[in-house]
Amino acid sequence: MNVLIIGSGAREHALAWAVAKSELVTAVFVAPGNGGTAMMGGKVQNVPLKATALDALLRYAEDNAVALTVVGSEQPLELGIVDLFRRAGRKIVGPTQAAAQLESSKVFSKKFMQRHGIPTAAYHVYCDAAAAKQDLALSQQSYPVVIKASGLCAGKGVFIALDRDEAFTAISEIFDDRIFGDAGNVVVIEEFLHGQEASVFVLTDGAHYRLFASAQDHKRIGDGDTGKNTGGMGAYAPAPIVTAEVMRKVEERIIQPTLQGMAEEGSPYTGFLYVGLMIDQGEPAVVEYNARLGDPETQVVLPLLKSDFVAALQASVNGTLNVVPFEMHEKSATTVVLASAGYPDAYAIGKPITLADDAATMPDCLLFHAGTTYESGALVTAGGRVLSVTALGSTLRESIDRAYHLVTKITFDGAYYRSDIGAKGV
Ligand code: AMP
Ligand code: GLY
Repeated sequence: MNVLIIGSGAREHALAWAVAKSELVTAVFVAPGNGGTAMMGGKVQNVPLKATALDALLRYAEDNAVALTVVGSEQPLELGIVDLFRRAGRKIVGPTQAAAQLESSKVFSKKFMQRHGIPTAAYHVYCDAAAAKQDLALSQQSYPVVIKASGLCAGKGVFIALDRDEAFTAISEIFDDRIFGDAGNVVVIEEFLHGQEASVFVLTDGAHYRLFASAQDHKRIGDGDTGKNTGGMGAYAPAPIVTAEVMRKVEERIIQPTLQGMAEEGSPYTGFLYVGLMIDQGEPAVVEYNARLGDPETQVVLPLLKSDFVAALQASVNGTLNVVPFEMHEKSATTVVLASAGYPDAYAIGKPITLADDAATMPDCLLFHAGTTYESGALVTAGGRVLSVTALGSTLRESIDRAYHLVTKITFDGAYYRSDIGAKGV
């Protein structure tokens, strides 16, 4: 069968890789894809359609006998791509627009968790700066406090304010300077949670669910979790902090009530669910939901899947996830992101990328592309996060060492990466 993957990051390259491995698949189309998916060859080809061009994507799926579509990024979900495809009788992996509000509206997700007794930080919702500031001024607010734009902000809509001045500045920037545009029309102010972050990834058909490996992202640009927030500078899986006992609590207190609650409220949740957790002394609370897989977490979570990915995706759209094989390798995986100098601020693009001859064939290594383009035989940088350099190992340490060894085989002008990915898990 033919599969369409929507998105252009390293997550979508990893999705294309995992889908193309399946014997069930004849052709994989990636819209719009990147240099990595362009270079895959074989079953895989890029389609020059934007992830947000919903009508054109549907027409493409119809014209090319696409049997299954997989949505990588959040914007098409928020725009209602799943509703559109389903109305046209097309199978697609992802939540409806209403269900995707678990990610696209922080107000929706906080109220949902409150209704269903799902552990998360205490919060208040504000629609204007004056009310938010007045509350902070009058209450015995403890600091730090967390200030979030409610709408989609590409992971950048969160301020952690260390005192009242910082909180007021954040509120003014969101409401008065409108730095997040309409995504900042409503603001959530919430309690700061202590602990260690980890993520759990679920595939669900609305009634049944299966668990991928847990993972830990590295959001800050600098070693030791310092400097600015980024889209993610590396990840590893599984995360030792998510012990079997923690996972049991996450299933009972978070995943099951989330899926039941969405079904009861008339929006059964389908597709991938990313549960971002804060774990404090073995007790998990939800920091955020995402309505999709994570980037860079996908680049470590999918290589650990042993059973057929496409069979599981089909089961997720057919309501038969409870009977499909869903097994993980007993291994660890690490991915190190190579970024352009300057990222997450301004950076240059168009820098030629050189890969050593043996880079493509190193055992247990996988090179996923993010911001690259491949034209007339030349691979050049085209984004802030350029490559996601992944390796498997029988231990986390081994996977880290292999990933960093593969990093030495890649060069481009201004390449930057963190040198401590995975260290907190060892
Ligand atoms: P979010 O977009 O909600 O995932 O937030 C981005 C990042 O901000 C998270 O990954 C956390 O590192 C941090 N964060 C968000 N909410 C909280 C919270 N209530 N307490 C502590 N840190 C938080
Ligand atoms: N790695 C964080 C995210 O995908 O939202």
